Amino acid sequence: MLLALCLLVIVIPVLSLAPGKARTTPPSGALVVRANTTSPNEFPTLIAAVAALPADSSPQSIFIYPGTYPGQVLIDRAGPVTIYGYTTDTSSPAHNAAVLTASASAASAGSDDASGTLRLKVDGAALYNLDIRNGFGKGSQALALSNYGTRVGVYACGLYGFQDTLLTEQGLQVYLQGHIEGAVDFIFGQRSQAYIAGNTLAVSSPGCITANGRSSNDSGMYLLERNTIVLASGAASNTSGKVFLGRPWRDFARVVFKSTIVTAPLNPAIWSEWSTAMPNTDHILFADFNTTGPGVPSNAAEPSFATPLTAKEAAAYNITSALGSGWESWVDADYLF
Ligand SMILES: *[C@@H]1O[C@H](CO)[C@@H](O)[C@H](O)[C@H]1NC(C)=O
Ligand SMILES: *[C@@H]1O[C@H](CO)[C@@H](O)[C@H](O)[C@H]1NC(C)=O
Ligand SMILES: *[C@@H]1O[C@H](CO)[C@@H](O)[C@H](O)[C@H]1NC(C)=O
Ligand SMILES: *[C@@H]1O[C@H](CO)[C@@H](O)[C@H](O)[C@H]1NC(C)=O
Ligand SMILES: *[C@@H]1O[C@H](CO)[C@@H](O)[C@H](O)[C@H]1NC(C)=O
Repeated sequence: MLLALCLLVIVIPVLSLAPGKARTTPPSGALVVRANTTSPNEFPTLIAAVAALPADSSPQSIFIYPGTYPGQVLIDRAGPVTIYGYTTDTSSPAHNAAVLTASASAASAGSDDASGTLRLKVDGAALYNLDIRNGFGKGSQALALSNYGTRVGVYACGLYGFQDTLLTEQGLQVYLQGHIEGAVDFIFGQRSQAYIAGNTLAVSSPGCITANGRSSNDSGMYLLERNTIVLASGAASNTSGKVFLGRPWRDFARVVFKSTIVTAPLNPAIWSEWSTAMPNTDHILFADFNTTGPGVPSNAAEPSFATPLTAKEAAAYNITSALGSGWESWVDADYLF
């Protein structure tokens, strides 16, 4: 009996590790970042490695060994950059070992973008298995990732903040199989076409998950598919019942959630106006389809500014409608489940 119990305890974790691939050594050609390195061929910080990239249009890559790397990082070179964090399992953020951390706020830095722990002003970038944190907490916008690039893929990364964790501002962007955490408007931006799928969206305090700022009838939209909404570990006790899928930052906001599993207790209205004084609900598309799980209140009643979708209408929202054709050339299909 005792032996059988021991076997159970040992066998289960081994099996659960099986599907992932490890990435524990630098891909060939990558610059190498290693905390406390004494090697002249390596960089002690991502800031130093980014500064060493050639200022041209060549594709470059960077590999980051385990460690917590303080300081804000801006990448604004002409050519694309791929950043790989060390992990024993590339398929999810659970084993991410390279952590970027800072705690600037928009109030002190001067703008939302300027507060970002990682700021991407580069096209064609890809991030793999990186954790990016803004530790400022409550009281100001304080971004973990500020993303102004087009054709940018963020794969199995952990983004942690409180208000405005992720700025997806413009261009074509995907966020796949990661962890995005915050409380207020924590996925926001104005002109991007963003496909956000297979992530855990972790809510730490009352607020709206998305704040889309589309301000004219352009091609911008957020399509969120097959994500799981959970209470973050250590979530404030009053979060329950005060979580909304989104509120419209501007009055052409367009956000569709498909096949979301919700365990964090949502507000029965599901969607919020921006504010009583400025509802911003005139031309918006706010729609969720096939939202299930114990976090959906039994008395859920969506407001008139939300749009119910039939299965046929919902089927028209997919990665191609969100990003336009040609996404296959830059999206890493390994993360499209
Ligand atoms: C680097 O050195 C500092 C100071 O000794 C230490 O706190 C930190 O854990 C080291 N980081 C790594 C990844 O070894
Ligand atoms: C937005 O543009 C599309 C075509 O791109 C059109 O079908 C739709 O009616 C427009 N909506 C509004 C509110 O102007
Ligand atoms: C939730 O509780 C926190 C303290 O934990 C408080 O600061 C906040 O104002 C409360 N929010 C709401 C919407 O009740
Ligand atoms: C509804 O969502 C669940 C969970 O993501 C998924 O397994 C199921 O296939 C979806 N059903 C439809 C009709 O899209
Ligand atoms: C997206 O939807 C369109 C129109 O409904 C369909 O033709 C296309 O095959 C779908 N694409 C994907 C990738 O599912």
